[in-house]
This record gives sequence, C-alpha cells and structure tokens, in this order.
Amino acid sequence: MNKENKLIPCQRELFDIPDEVSYLNCAYSSPMLKSVARIGAKHLSKSAQPWRIKTSDFFEPAELARVEFSRLIDADPGDIAVISSVSYGLSVAAQNLRLQAKQKIIVLHDQFPSNVYIWQELAQQRDAIIVTVNRSPTSDLTTAVLAQLTTDVGIVALPQARWTDGALLDLETIGRRCREIGASLVLDLTQTLGVMPFSVQRIKPDFVICAAYKWLLGSYGVTFLYARKDRQNGNPIEHSWINRRNSENFSELTQYQSNFKDGARRYDSGEPSHLTISMAVEGLQQIHRWSIPAIVASIAVKTRMIATEVEQVGMNSLPEAERSPHILGVYIGDCDGERLHRILADNQVFVSLRGQFLRISPHVYNDERDLERLLNTMIKGLETLK
Ligand SMILES: Cc1ncc(COP(=O)(O)O)c(C=O)c1O
Repeated sequence: MNKENKLIPCQRELFDIPDEVSYLNCAYSSPMLKSVARIGAKHLSKSAQPWRIKTSDFFEPAELARVEFSRLIDADPGDIAVISSVSYGLSVAAQNLRLQAKQKIIVLHDQFPSNVYIWQELAQQRDAIIVTVNRSPTSDLTTAVLAQLTTDVGIVALPQARWTDGALLDLETIGRRCREIGASLVLDLTQTLGVMPFSVQRIKPDFVICAAYKWLLGSYGVTFLYARKDRQNGNPIEHSWINRRNSENFSELTQYQSNFKDGARRYDSGEPSHLTISMAVEGLQQIHRWSIPAIVASIAVKTRMIATEVEQVGMNSLPEAERSPHILGVYIGDCDGERLHRILADNQVFVSLRGQFLRISPHVYNDERDLERLLNTMIKGLETLK
C-alpha cells in the first residue's frame, strides 16, 4: 500500500461534532471544518469593517479557488469559473450547447432536480426529447445509459454517482461513446468530487459542475464550473463588471470593456464573496492535504462495514462494484422510511431519506462508535416498526 492509500485515522477533532452525535450525512452537507469556520470568521469581521477590504479581496480568493479546484479534476485554473449554485452552472451549459429539434437529452431516473429541470426547459424550448434512464435487474446503470447513446442524442447530463443510492457510472466509457456520436457531456459531480478520482483529460466532458458544501467541505453558496477550452467563448448568464478585462482598476470601470477576462472566468457569477470563497479554498486545501486516494480508501472501509451489517438484518444496498465507495443507499422496501429516519434522528444518528433509500454517507470524522450507534439504532428501529 503506498503512502497515499494509507487509511486516515478518525479526524473528528478537526470538526465541531459533539460526542453524542453520529453524523453520517455528508451527501446532505459537510459539517464545517474548524479551520473553515475560522477563515469564515476572519472574513466576516473584515466585512463588518469594509475599510479593511482590499481590491485584491475581490479577485485573489477566486483565483486561489480556481487553482485548488483544478487540481482535483486535472484541469488548468483558467478552465474554472466560480459560481453560486449547480443550477447556475447547468444553465450556463444549457445556454451554450447546440441542440436540434427531435434530438434527445439523456438523464437518470431520480437524478437531482437541478440537473433535470433545466433540461426539461431546454427540451421544451427546442422541441427536443428527454430520455430518462434507470438500471434494471439485468443491467447496471452504465450499461443502461450506453444502450441509449445513439446518434440522435444531443446532450448527456449525468452525475458520477446517483445522489439517492450511490449507483456508479463509468464516465470514461460514457464519455468515449458521447464523442463517437457527437453528443455533449455535462456532469454534475457534486456528490463525488472530493472523494472519487476524476480527470477531465480522460473523460473530456464539455462542462463539469460541483457544489462546495458537501464533499468539498466548503461553504454553501459556492460552486465550481469547469468549461472545456472550446467552451470558453460562450455567453455568460450575467454580464457582471468583474468578469471584464481590467476590472481590478476600480477607478476606470466606466471605460467599458468589450473583452472578457481569460478562460472560463467569463462565466463567474456576480458578487463573488471573499468570505465564502476563502472558506471553500480551505476545504479544498484540507482535501489535498489528506489526498483523494486516502480519503476514498478510508470512507470505503466504513461503507463496506455498514453494508455488510445491514445485509445481516435483511436490508439491501447495491453490490459494491455498482455503488460509489462513499454513498450507501439502503433500500427500505416496505418499511416506513419516515419513521425509521425519525427514530434515527431522535437518537442523534443523522442520515438522509431519499426516495426509497436510507442514504448513509460517512466521512473521515466518523468513528467506530458512530457506526455502532447507527447499526444498533437501525436494528432497534426496525424491531419497533415490525
Ligand atoms: C447531486 C446534487 N447536485 C446539486 C445539488 C445542489 O444543487 P443547487 O446548487 O442547484 O442547489 C445537490 C444537493 O443536494 C446534489 O445532491
């Protein structure tokens, strides 16, 4: 085992999680690293005294964020825009992709709504067709998607793992097929970046979008948008002063500029906040300090253990080869999911209920006691519900 794959010992002391709380819900929101909270407090105090805010505060945190995020996906810093939400990034993509009447847009069954509504809207505008894909007992999700990738597909809008049950997609194979049929590939990687390895060089998507407040351990309100080089001359949604050339020179802002800043910066959303972006930078830097191979290996041990135990009490999740290493969707079947979820929360065990799945998503702050408390409470809860 090389150094990077070494398991990370429990990192709870870096977070503000009371002993009696078992938080296994990073897919909902990361608990805040103490270091991220400290940076937030520092920048908040600056905002309280705006005479301390420098011109560089408008630009430097975003530039640093581009550097740190680009390292995660094997891109250049200039390929990254700093935006406000996943829906914003998907709107940028939709506005800049070609799609003809009767062409198809591929999405998953139960895909996150921000990555569905925009395509429904675009399909309506362009008279295109939405095709919703699901796995079946005889085919995994990748096989099911590949079966739909025919030459009449215009846009393929997917995650790397489904947010409800963690079902995985082989994006390298899907990306290759998209290029063969001339379809654009748009990826919402909010539920996988920060844990799973990913490279834009290998997968070659048109756009990638990822919110910072889950597995990137950053703050709400910051999202990253990668635009492939040939997608960096499109139309931004907003025409903000800050995305134009020479915007650092505040005294000359009324010398209106027709040129944008370089690369994907033209897609940055307005009012970039030095506060939230600096917090996102610290989250990314912590991820790099741990390293992706070490994070993924450390979380996989926990989900594997939970999967084995829940199976013993008669509950199923996807086979390990078909699911992401960090999101475990436990199928609840006929069980009253709302009540089971409430029983867990009443016992300070926090997971999510998403559709027919109890979604369990641990991180390096979880220890054996959390896993024990989760399993014991689930067993007791299931008894009560019988
Ligand atoms: C897969 C996925 N994408 C995106 C988001 C957030 O979307 P938005 O930034 O549009 O609120 C979430 C939040 O749960 C998510 O799970």
